[in-house]
Amino acid sequence: MGKVYIETYGCQMNVADTEVVFAILGKAGFSRTEDIAQADVILVNTCSVRDNAEQRIRGRIEQFNIWRKARPGVLVGVLGCMAERLKESLLESGKVDVVAGPDAYRNLPILLGAASDGHPQIDVLLSREETYGDIAPLRVDKNGVSAFISIMRGCNNVCSYCVVPYTRGAERSRDWRTIVREACECAQAGYKEVTLLGQNVDSYRDGEVGFARLLALVAEAVPGLRIRFSTSNPQDISDAVLETMAAHANICRHIHLPVQSGSDRMLEKMRRRYTRAGYLERVAKIRSLMPDCAITTDVIAGFCSETEEDHRDTLSLFEAVGFDAAFMFQYSERPGTLAARKYPDDVSPEVKNRRLEGIIALQNRLSLESNRRDVGKTFCVLVEGPSKRDPDRLCGRNSQNKMCVWPDTAHRAGDFVEVTVEDCTQATLLCKLA
Ligand code: SAH
Ligand code: SF4
Ligand code: F3S
Repeated sequence: MGKVYIETYGCQMNVADTEVVFAILGKAGFSRTEDIAQADVILVNTCSVRDNAEQRIRGRIEQFNIWRKARPGVLVGVLGCMAERLKESLLESGKVDVVAGPDAYRNLPILLGAASDGHPQIDVLLSREETYGDIAPLRVDKNGVSAFISIMRGCNNVCSYCVVPYTRGAERSRDWRTIVREACECAQAGYKEVTLLGQNVDSYRDGEVGFARLLALVAEAVPGLRIRFSTSNPQDISDAVLETMAAHANICRHIHLPVQSGSDRMLEKMRRRYTRAGYLERVAKIRSLMPDCAITTDVIAGFCSETEEDHRDTLSLFEAVGFDAAFMFQYSERPGTLAARKYPDDVSPEVKNRRLEGIIALQNRLSLESNRRDVGKTFCVLVEGPSKRDPDRLCGRNSQNKMCVWPDTAHRAGDFVEVTVEDCTQATLLCKLA
C-alpha cells in the first residue's frame, strides 16, 4: 500500500493521534517512514490554536506540494485541527489530496484509496462517541521511555478565545478499562512513564470512574511506572485528585494549571470559570498537600481590551505563585470563536509584544529562583538519554518535570537514577550521581 510519512504540529494530543493514525494505516497495509523522500503518502497533523501555528503549517503544505509535483502519485493529506477548521477550502488550493478531521481517522485508508484515483477526499465529521479506545497506538518516539495515553477527546468549556472546541468537538471520555489496559501494555513494552492526556482531564468520567479514581487505577496497575497528566483546569481540579496524587508516590509531583490571566475582568471575558482568588486557593491547596509539587502554567498577553492594570495583575499573580515554568503567548484572534464575534482585538501588536516580553522576563527569573531552591536536593530521575551538548552526560526529568543533566556513562535510557543538584541554569538542574 505504500509508505507513510507524518509530520505532527500542536499539542501532545496531536502526537498521540499521530500514533493512532499510524496504527490504523498499519493495519490497512501501509508502513511508516521517517524519510519524506521515500514517502508515498505525506500527512501533516495540524494545529489551529494560534495564527502563527497555521501560517507555519501552510508553509509546509507548499513544500509538500513541491514533492508531490516532482513525484507523481504521491498523496498529501491534512489531518487534525486545521483540517477541521478549514474543511473544503484546503482542497480548493489543489495542493492537497485528503482532508481528515480528528474524528475521521478510521476512514483514512478508504480516503487515501479513493484519492489515489485522482479524486480529492474529505471527511471532517465530528463524532460524539469516537475515542479510538480500542486502537493500540503505534508509538513513534524513539527512546521507548515515555508514552502518551489519550483518555478523552474534545472540550466542552468554550473559553471565548479558544478554537479547540470547534476543531475537536464535544468532550467524551474513553472507557477506563481500555486506558488501564494500555498502561499495562506500555509497562510490558518497557516504557517507564505514561502521560494521561485530555484538554480538561479533571472532567474525565466513565460511569462511576472520575479522574481521581482513574489516576488511582492506573497508578496501582503499573506501580513501576511514573504517571503524569495534562491538562488540568483550575475550576475543575478537585481535592480528590490532589489527595490521590499525594497518596501515590508514582504519580509525578507536577501540575500544569493554565491560568491565562491574573485579572478577574479578563478571566470573566475569557469565560474561564474561576477567579484570581480561586486560582490562588487551588495553588495553596496543592502546596499544603504536596509541598514539593511543581506548578506550571499557560498565559495569554493582550487579550481583548486588556489594560496595563490587567497586565500588572498577571505579573503580580506570577510573582505570588512563583511558577516553575510557563508557556506564554500573545493573544491571536481565532475566527468563529466567541471572542472574535463579540470583542474587538484591540490591543496593538506592539503592546501585546511588550507585555509578553515582560511576562517572559519575569518568568525567567522565577524559573531560575525555583531551580536555585533545588540546589543541594536529591531527586530520582528517569534517564532519557545522552545530553545533546555532551555525550558523557545523561539527561532526564525529575518528578517535578525539571530537566536534569549529570556526568554518567554507566546508565542508559529508561533507568531510574538518584542525582544531587549542584548548580543550575534557568532551564536545567546541573547534577551529580547521588
Ligand atoms: N485545554 C488546555 C489548553 C489547550 S490550548 C487548557 O484549557 O488549559 C493551549 C494554550 O494555548 C492555552 O492554555 C492558551 O494559553 C493558549 N491559547 C489558546 N487559544 C489561544 C489564542 N487564541 N491566542 C493565544 N493563545 C491561545
Ligand atoms: Fe480551549 Fe478552554 Fe477547552 Fe482549554 S478548556 S481547550 S482553553 S476551550
Ligand atoms: Fe492545536 Fe488542536 Fe491541540 S488546535 S493545541 S492541535 S487540540
